[in-house]
Amino acid sequence: MCGIYSYYNYHVSRSLQEILDQLFQGLRRLEYRGYDSAGICVDTDDAPEPAACGYGDGDGAAAGNGHAHSLAPCQGSGALDGDSPTPIVIKAVGKIANLEALAAEYVAANGTDVAKVLRHHVGIAHTRWATHGRPTPVNSHPHVSDPSAEFVVVHNGIITNYAAIKEILVSHGEEFVSETDTEVIPKLCKYVYHQLGTKLPFPKLVMEVMRRLEGAFALVFKSRHYPGEMVACRRGSPLIVGVKVPQGKGPLASFRSFSDAYGGAHNSQAIEVWAASDASAVIEHTKKVLVLEDDDVLHVAGGGYGIYNAANRGDEAVPRVLQTLQLEVDQIMKGGYDHFMQKEIHEQPEALLQTMRGRVMFRRPDDEPSAYVAGAASRITLGGLVDTKATIRRARRIMFVACGTSYHACLAARQTIEDLVELPVVLELASDLLDRRAPIFRDDTCVFVSQSGETADTLRALEYAKTRGALCVGVTNTVGSAISRATHCGIHQNAGYEIGVASTKAYTSQVLGLDAKVRALAETLRDSQSLLFFARGSNYATALEAALKMKEVALIHSEGILAGEMKHGPLALVDEHMPIIVVATRDGTYAKMQSVIEQLLARDARLIILCNEGDERMQGYAAGSRCQLIEVPQTVEQLQPVVNIVPLQLLAYHITVLRGHNVDQPRNLAKSVTVTD
Ligand code: F6R
Repeated sequence: MCGIYSYYNYHVSRSLQEILDQLFQGLRRLEYRGYDSAGICVDTDDAPEPAACGYGDGDGAAAGNGHAHSLAPCQGSGALDGDSPTPIVIKAVGKIANLEALAAEYVAANGTDVAKVLRHHVGIAHTRWATHGRPTPVNSHPHVSDPSAEFVVVHNGIITNYAAIKEILVSHGEEFVSETDTEVIPKLCKYVYHQLGTKLPFPKLVMEVMRRLEGAFALVFKSRHYPGEMVACRRGSPLIVGVKVPQGKGPLASFRSFSDAYGGAHNSQAIEVWAASDASAVIEHTKKVLVLEDDDVLHVAGGGYGIYNAANRGDEAVPRVLQTLQLEVDQIMKGGYDHFMQKEIHEQPEALLQTMRGRVMFRRPDDEPSAYVAGAASRITLGGLVDTKATIRRARRIMFVACGTSYHACLAARQTIEDLVELPVVLELASDLLDRRAPIFRDDTCVFVSQSGETADTLRALEYAKTRGALCVGVTNTVGSAISRATHCGIHQNAGYEIGVASTKAYTSQVLGLDAKVRALAETLRDSQSLLFFARGSNYATALEAALKMKEVALIHSEGILAGEMKHGPLALVDEHMPIIVVATRDGTYAKMQSVIEQLLARDARLIILCNEGDERMQGYAAGSRCQLIEVPQTVEQLQPVVNIVPLQLLAYHITVLRGHNVDQPRNLAKSVTVTD
């Protein structure tokens, strides 16, 4: 969780206001990752040319007297020799709009010249999902090493050994102001910097710091001792780099070693570089991106950049390939819808098509066996699994591992996979698998399902399964994500970007004529305190997923109940007030669901039955009773849960809007859960 956005410009003219606006816009794109507080750090002056800030001997202790203060930032006056003045750090609790308003207040109060053009500058920004310490200005990022902000850091992840580092730093006289794990990082930078006595290249200093950190992190650094240089690194948390060379401004320069950064031909070149948690944040600026790997350290100085790897601690750059993003800006916009969740529910027919494109081939009965064309039955090819198909077939069992909605998707698919593959299929919630250190064997195939491909619990479970020698398969919606890179093989969902925090199209990746009817139903349920969903078979997943949506966006207590368990306890909850949604589409459990409905009606239950269109028996229940129907088209039994979830997603969406809650960014949640515990 948490979103990082940083912007470097060199020989590219940007006014301070343009830089600020860009940082705010970048944060807005990442707000889905955390939205309880946010902050930025910028300078008011151009940074010097890199040749003028090469490294040599250490320059002693900081003597700046400015304050990098959370709510009342002030620009420092005392620059260190050869170093830049204290930067401006502004942090605010709540949404990005609050941060923007606070920045405007700061600019007005301090007479900051925001029209001033900066040709060489590093700006860093962060949106937070609190893990250590409540959302307060002081706990927000960027964090600084000291009041004069010798080192400034933004962080996504968790430093697990922060308490031990803090103790050491406190024993050396450091004073901590926040409750966060992150604050140890800038202080550690400062400590190492002054301890060494020799001024290391900035990326090398960061490697020294990384060596002492445990846990998961993506970090961006800026320092008064390295004016105009930007360093970013990652281990366990995602970080992408976007690069742009303005047209006609020369080739892109990449460093082969640390020393290339200081002086050299690249200093006459123009460049813009972004380091961000997600490509959606940079897409409006550049489509040229690369994904940093674990222990990679990015260094940007002058008109070039280099990527090194802290694990081999070598001075030589490592090759990382720039890719061209196949993402358009309109894919991350609401495009005529009121909310992302609404857009993403309605995108499901297209998402399903994209998921199947090039994979499902149909054959006409009179075609040669080799001729597969659109329009008739026949073959599914999953390119990513071709080479491992035989190993998967020989597996002792298939284990699906996921969290939240992705787990429900696995639950919905379990029976179909059992039927088709004729292998035992087991399901594991990633966190529970880890807690139990459940046995995994060399002849298991473990399938890790994750929309984001970054969920920390799922990633840790993957690492665990790898140590046990299992074949690890990934199913993710994010190309280049940690899970897609760490698995042996896999499938990309191609469902398109999901920005609303509540996952929808990644679950189904239909049939949306029901919208008006579902909205009318939502009106009758908007004031409910509690809602129950009853289902069985593969629609148990539908019940769990619908209940999760109701909890997370509509903020209504809700439970998905396996209808077979009804008489073992949940029946006690049934009265004429509690709304109960029963999934009773025509499948192998249909007859049993009829009996469930009869028992509920016998207790005057307030029922909403989700059934297939034209089901006369269900229409009979509805006639003259307090029971309402949601009718959905019938499809093959294995795919019916995919159809069934859609009106229930819409129901959660409409109830949320009617109750006046934030549908895309529900209270306390974030889209990518990149922390464990
Ligand atoms: C619920 C939701 C979460 C995620 C879960 C796993 O709407 O979005 O329950 O499904 O955090 O996320 P991924 O699929 O990215 O691993």
